[in-house]
Amino acid sequence: MELNNASAEQLAQWEHALAAEYHAIVAKGLNLDLTRGKPSAEQLTLSNGMDGILKGNYTSPDGVDCRNYGGLDGIMEARAIGAAILGVPVESVLAGGNSSLTLMHQAMTIAHLFGLDGSDSAWANEETVKFICPVPGYDRHYSVCEHLGIEMITVPMTSNGPQMDEVERLIAEDSSIKGMWCVPKYSNPTGVVYSDDTVARIAALGKIAAPNFRVFWDNAYGVHDLSDNPAQLASIMDACIAAGTEDSVLQFASTSKITFAGAGVAFMAASSSNLSGFKQSLGFMTIGPDKVNQLRHVHFFAEDNALKTHMQKHAAIIKPRFSSVLTHLESAFGDNDLGDWESADGGYFISFDTQPGLAKEVVKMAGDAGVKLTPAGATFPYGNDPKDSNIRIAPTVPTVAQVDEAMEVFVVCVKLASVRQAIAG
Ligand SMILES: Cc1ncc(COP(=O)(O)O)c(C=O)c1O
Repeated sequence: MELNNASAEQLAQWEHALAAEYHAIVAKGLNLDLTRGKPSAEQLTLSNGMDGILKGNYTSPDGVDCRNYGGLDGIMEARAIGAAILGVPVESVLAGGNSSLTLMHQAMTIAHLFGLDGSDSAWANEETVKFICPVPGYDRHYSVCEHLGIEMITVPMTSNGPQMDEVERLIAEDSSIKGMWCVPKYSNPTGVVYSDDTVARIAALGKIAAPNFRVFWDNAYGVHDLSDNPAQLASIMDACIAAGTEDSVLQFASTSKITFAGAGVAFMAASSSNLSGFKQSLGFMTIGPDKVNQLRHVHFFAEDNALKTHMQKHAAIIKPRFSSVLTHLESAFGDNDLGDWESADGGYFISFDTQPGLAKEVVKMAGDAGVKLTPAGATFPYGNDPKDSNIRIAPTVPTVAQVDEAMEVFVVCVKLASVRQAIAG
């Protein structure tokens, strides 16, 4: 289906046929949902073995009674899990509660109000505070900025990561830019893995940015590979050490999509100076994390290669769903320009760009036909996609058959909306 060179008659024929297809779908009264970027029950069940795993022994291998207060950094063996996920030394990792989003919010709040390097470094000392947000991106990152009154500047994502010429230009020109969000591996939602060059350039930002600038490196999908031969993300900490900018990056991860999304363990990795600045304020918020849950994770992943084997089980469940989405997109749009997408090899999302001006319409049409999609615009700050073209597809929760059925509907909606747009001129 090539719309650009199609005659008015051809467009009218397509519209007629697609409208009939669409009305037949509406009549089925479907109830399908591609909005939920969370693990399916089948995935969660992979970690049920954590229940009762401690068998009454609450002492960590290091000798900590995990039932008691204390240990702001988390137990050593849990920090080692975070170190393995993030590829950093255990000393630079803090193991916290169940949510990396909480750690990110805390780090942001502390950097903003109190400063990670003494009160002079607090962002709030300045009238305006800005953050760079690669788009499309993760809506909750934007909400944290909004919550703290931080202005967001968008930079487009490419298939290598954020458009770095633009990032460097903005930062060199504006010292009120205090940070940047990054989801470096299987980015939410585009699925992109940052290239080595991008990682090196992000590490070098600390040389041109304000001293209190911090990259929030949210490596939420660092071990969520779907292929046996996954793309390798370069180490941001190694790149920072090479550039002399160790203090410019804070890294985050969690086991939310490894074990239990509501009862995992979250990690933050940073330079000793950043960790110490963070903990000074953290100590006012908590006397210590849930070490019992951390110990359960330590036991669950005690054997060599346990984490890798576990993630392969997740991949076996998720992969057919991703394949279904990609197969539908390829067969409907592989030979035309009705849509663009990245072929995600991991993570939780596939991001689809319609022709400009159609995302809201497609989401509405799909909704009316019983297929719930994430609201158009959600992948942009303030919910505003200026091109109205990005749609996030989250295929992990429905069954493969449901994903298949939902994608058939999605494809018809994109085609019909595109043909109608072409007819309207
Ligand atoms: C990029 C990204 N970061 C963080 C999170 C949430 O992580 P957590 O459950 O550890 O708070 C998500 C969840 O979808 C995510 O996509």
